[in-house]
Amino acid sequence: MIEHLIEFIGRTHLVVLHFPIALIVVAAVVELWRKFAIKDRAYAPSAAGSLMFLFALLGTVVSVVTGLVLGFDGGQRVDLHRILGIVSGALMVVTWFVWISAMRPESKSGTAYLVMLCMSALSIGAAGHFGGELTHGEGFLTKPLKEMVGMEEDQLALDAEALGVSRASAEVFELKVLPIMNRACVECHGPDEAEDDIRLDTLAYVLDRRVQTVRRGDPDDSELVYRIELPHDDPDIMPPEGDGEPLTQAEIDVVRDWIASLGE
Ligand code: HEC
Repeated sequence: MIEHLIEFIGRTHLVVLHFPIALIVVAAVVELWRKFAIKDRAYAPSAAGSLMFLFALLGTVVSVVTGLVLGFDGGQRVDLHRILGIVSGALMVVTWFVWISAMRPESKSGTAYLVMLCMSALSIGAAGHFGGELTHGEGFLTKPLKEMVGMEEDQLALDAEALGVSRASAEVFELKVLPIMNRACVECHGPDEAEDDIRLDTLAYVLDRRVQTVRRGDPDDSELVYRIELPHDDPDIMPPEGDGEPLTQAEIDVVRDWIASLGE
């Protein structure tokens, strides 16, 4: 029960966070406009701007707290988003004190408040940006633009070309074969441990001509296929007995079909 409640509180982060971002930016724009458009009067925070700031402050505090709860749930990863979120919270609290001072009659803190407000807006904007990259993936926002001007190359096609296979085969590897390798093989044939100098965690490694575990177009002559098709009690079967479930027939077929497709 309590875990579910904590999970729910953490997830409200994704709803609440939009309020401070919007409010603080609008508050900063409104106050900047007043300061520079109304030049002849001593600047003091406006009622509308102050209201937005106070709600943004509330939203920031709730976002920081729920964000920490959410982050705690997903393992204590210290990333740029988390740091900027906490910095934003601290900046907003400081801004609040400066706001209190600036609201006093004859106060000279108006400009200081404006500076703090803009710094908070920048910090919250940056935190939001890196948060968006966490949920949507890096470069999510600008990807369509980059594709439009041809800056974003089709990485899979480039990899396929460099390795001399078709793009379709490279795609089948990524979508169908790699998940099988990740489940059953990469623990021992990956970045952490490369048993027998074999890695199976990328297309380039699987096709590495120096180890020849895969003979392109010929599954029957591929050591990799031989090893996954052995009887379950054979000492040479991969994954080794006791170190993971043998591949299912469907998985073996996926690997076979993929290797056969490489010859085309
Ligand atoms: C628990 C660790 C472990 C796992 C999991 C594992 N392997 Fe291995 N693999 C080894 C070891 C150790 C060797 C070297 C000894 C041998 O050849 O049997 C090896 C050797 C091989 C070889 C022989 C290469 C050669 O020609 O000498 C191939 C091919 C291979 N593994 C493929 C796989 C595949 C495919 C998977 C997943 C389906 C897998 N392995 C999972 C430990 C592992």
